[in-house]
Amino acid sequence: MDLVIRNGILVLGSHEFRSDLGIEKGRIAAIGGDIKAGEEIDASGLYVLPGAVDVHTHLQMPFGGTVSADSYEAGTRAAVCGGVTTVFDYAIQRKGKGIVQTVEERRALAEPGICADIAFHCAITDLGQEGELLDEFPRAADYGVSSFKCFMVYKKEGMMIDDGMLMRIMEKAGEAGILTNVHAENPDAIDARIAGFLARGNTSPWYHYLSRPEFVEAEAVKRAVHWAKALGAKLYIVHLACKEGVEEVAKAKAEGHSIFAETCPQYLEFTSDVYKREDGRNFVCSPPMKGPESREALWKALKLGVIDTVATDHCPFMQAEKDWGKEDFTKIPNGCAGIENLYPYMLSAANAGRISFSRAVQLCAETPAKLFGCASKGSITVGKDADIVLYDPSMDFTIRTENMHSDYDQTIWEGVALKGYPVKTLLRGNLVYDQGKYTGKPGQGRYIKRSESGCL
Ligand code: URP
Ligand code: ZN
Ligand code: ZN
Repeated sequence: MDLVIRNGILVLGSHEFRSDLGIEKGRIAAIGGDIKAGEEIDASGLYVLPGAVDVHTHLQMPFGGTVSADSYEAGTRAAVCGGVTTVFDYAIQRKGKGIVQTVEERRALAEPGICADIAFHCAITDLGQEGELLDEFPRAADYGVSSFKCFMVYKKEGMMIDDGMLMRIMEKAGEAGILTNVHAENPDAIDARIAGFLARGNTSPWYHYLSRPEFVEAEAVKRAVHWAKALGAKLYIVHLACKEGVEEVAKAKAEGHSIFAETCPQYLEFTSDVYKREDGRNFVCSPPMKGPESREALWKALKLGVIDTVATDHCPFMQAEKDWGKEDFTKIPNGCAGIENLYPYMLSAANAGRISFSRAVQLCAETPAKLFGCASKGSITVGKDADIVLYDPSMDFTIRTENMHSDYDQTIWEGVALKGYPVKTLLRGNLVYDQGKYTGKPGQGRYIKRSESGCL
């Protein structure tokens, strides 16, 4: 064996137990027994967890009049330093471009510098004049892209999918083993509300929230669920943030439909009150943080299994870019940082007894890997990639921009105190993070060719 991790508490999605773990050729090769190895790590007092799988990021993404602040290298470096070993980025398909072509271009940009393993969803924005993009779905699935995102918003940005397109995508996706992801908000309601606020001179970040409040998201969630039910399609709702949306998903699941939901740490931690803060513009993302009732509903849904995954929607911008909207919230680029905070935040919640460690592992590693067709990821099982996080539950850690490993210069997580923190991350058996420092080599990450999505 190449490496043995001794005396740690192994956390599986089902339970936890104390055991040694052996690694050979980058894979988990033994759990328990008399493991002999060339190298040893003593994990006494530590949890041994699977690397997290963040299924929602926007790295180096042209958006909001700029490009998101983390390059593929910086974003994936930050990822492994927070215990995320697999990153799913959104490749945005544009008019006239094919799906595979879009993903190949992003791969070429990403691969030389990636520090974590990477997979892509494709965000479809245009089906072609005769809907010819639909014919490419099987080829995209063969290429390993087995999930598409549909933005039900961002009309002005030229990224919106209307209901007709959404239905056509859902129908075709199912046949190809592709899962349809939606960003659910109602664009016309948002535009009408923004116009009204601006006309009355209401331009502070608080009006970002008021232009897309709970009912604006809820309507779109219900519409997407309606189409999925009517068409017998599988649906994954990204960054779910409102109580009524949670209720809709719970109902659909109880009726036996394959409707899955993701939320993000920012919706679990913050409420819409952040938009009243002096630095409220830094929290501008879509959907916005909602009221305390929604936040409570999300926590409850996590525990009950109504929400399936927690991912970040990592899309940071520099302070100077967020400042474009000091006098007008519509000029603020939408998005926040989170990739390095996901696992520490959810594990800190487990440490505080809010959820179990096993549930945190299910939400951040096991279920996302299964749902999006990454057979070698997401769990501590013999034969899987040795993507491992060692976590010290006794460590105190306060998030500061300067102790993160990204390229951004501001984070909404500034000053948030956590109990417990990752101390080491292994990517396929290689030590890539150790006691606060990135120790890997950029370019070490690999592209993951996924299989069918939407199966648990
Ligand atoms: O505000 C956000 N969420 N920005 C990233 C793009 C998206 O909608 O996911
Ligand atoms: Zn979105
Ligand atoms: Zn997103």
